[in-house]
Amino acid sequence: MIRSFRPLKNLLHVSQVRSFHKTLYLSNNQNYSPGLVGVIASESSICTVGTGEGLNYRGYNVMDFAEHSSFEEIAFLLIHGHLPNKKELDLYVSKMASHRELQKPLKTILEQLPNTSNPMDILRTVASTMGCFEPECDNASLHKSKNNQWESADKLIASFGPALLYWHHFHQNGIRITTTTLPQDTIAQNFLKLLKQTQEPDEDMVHAVDKTLILYAEHDLAASTFAARVTTSTSSDLFSAVTTAIGTLRGPLHGGANEAAYKLISQFSDPDQAEEGVMKMIKDKEIIMGFGHRVYKKGDPRSAIVKKMAKALSEKINTQESKDLFKIAERIEKVMYREKKLLTNLDFYASVVYHLCNIPTSFFTPIFVIARTSGWAAHVIEQREDNVLMRPLSNYVGPDPSSTEFRPLLQRQ
Ligand SMILES: CC(C)(COP(=O)(O)OP(=O)(O)OC[C@H]1O[C@@H](n2cnc3c(N)ncnc32)[C@H](O)[C@@H]1OP(=O)(O)O)[C@@H](O)C(=O)NCCC(=O)NCCS
Repeated sequence: MIRSFRPLKNLLHVSQVRSFHKTLYLSNNQNYSPGLVGVIASESSICTVGTGEGLNYRGYNVMDFAEHSSFEEIAFLLIHGHLPNKKELDLYVSKMASHRELQKPLKTILEQLPNTSNPMDILRTVASTMGCFEPECDNASLHKSKNNQWESADKLIASFGPALLYWHHFHQNGIRITTTTLPQDTIAQNFLKLLKQTQEPDEDMVHAVDKTLILYAEHDLAASTFAARVTTSTSSDLFSAVTTAIGTLRGPLHGGANEAAYKLISQFSDPDQAEEGVMKMIKDKEIIMGFGHRVYKKGDPRSAIVKKMAKALSEKINTQESKDLFKIAERIEKVMYREKKLLTNLDFYASVVYHLCNIPTSFFTPIFVIARTSGWAAHVIEQREDNVLMRPLSNYVGPDPSSTEFRPLLQRQ
């Protein structure tokens, strides 16, 4: 039997359409989950968060990575699907280094962007600009040709630090820096060399930044990753997905929390003052940045690693400021647990680590971008393998359509 399509209105009288809509939104109501809490939106083999044996990337425990690996190994694992052997890793490190030379038009754009811009806006613009100059593939064949996705992901990760620091030094110090360093330099080494314009950054600081990159690399369907997958689900390109994700990461409830946590900690000059201030914030029902998590309710496993690094760095630097900073952070942690039973998330002590590495506060979230681009790319690639357009419904609570009458412009009061 041939079934011809007839628009709904041809099948039903308009009043029946209205009652149909009412039924529809009433039935949606039953599945409504504000903030998508508890909703499973995709299948993934990339990461476990809060299930099974803690946090794992492609089955491997992140604790082992934090102990034994470099960020490049993790980026390779996430994007290319397996842990590299020594030869593959050496090649990958030098390939990433080869992408640090920025294209001239990108440098011109970075020079034109205001020196007052938020560094997250700079990175969002870098991702978008790279999508214009080095697109993944031509638009017409976007959904068919995915051959450049791995290359594009690597380029983005390798270019973000150099681009941010090119913009920074041009506007802050009036210099056009060379963004390449030694071909064997890791992303952490390159970042600190460019930031501080030195050939010999402190090894413990390089180690600390490298470890935070590993811990920030992937976290399942965090808001930015979900946003990247939504963009990908429309058969869009990787640069668009990463641009979307950066915009989503920027907010203080997500990636911006590390900057907000440092602002909180640094406003106090000693632990007693911190206790008093945080008690007042709790009383005023304010959100304390760097605490709590949508998934981890018994603590963020990454937190202990960054806390240990923050303590070691503060002791190594051994100034009154470095020691006080750590003590203030610890007191806030103690008060939050005592008063609210809330535990620190990764962002809290990561902010202390970054400050102790002399990294400007506004670069904390951009470092998160460099790391998480590996996770975003892994999800983009995975979404494409078995794509379904993501298109949820809303629970309509607006004016009742059955009593909302349209009047042409001149008949309106
Ligand atoms: C991450 C976050 C958005 C998770 O939110 P969530 O899943 O909705 O948290 P919950 O609903 O489980 O919170 C339970 C209670 O603790 C409170 N709470 C959670 N995190 C809090 C925080 N950081 N400061 C103060 N109170 C907090 C909530 O207000 C809620 O209180 P209520 O029951 O009286 O309304 C939230 O913890 C937060 O805003 N944290 C600060 C920002 C941050 O650090 N983000 C980085 C996340 S990795």
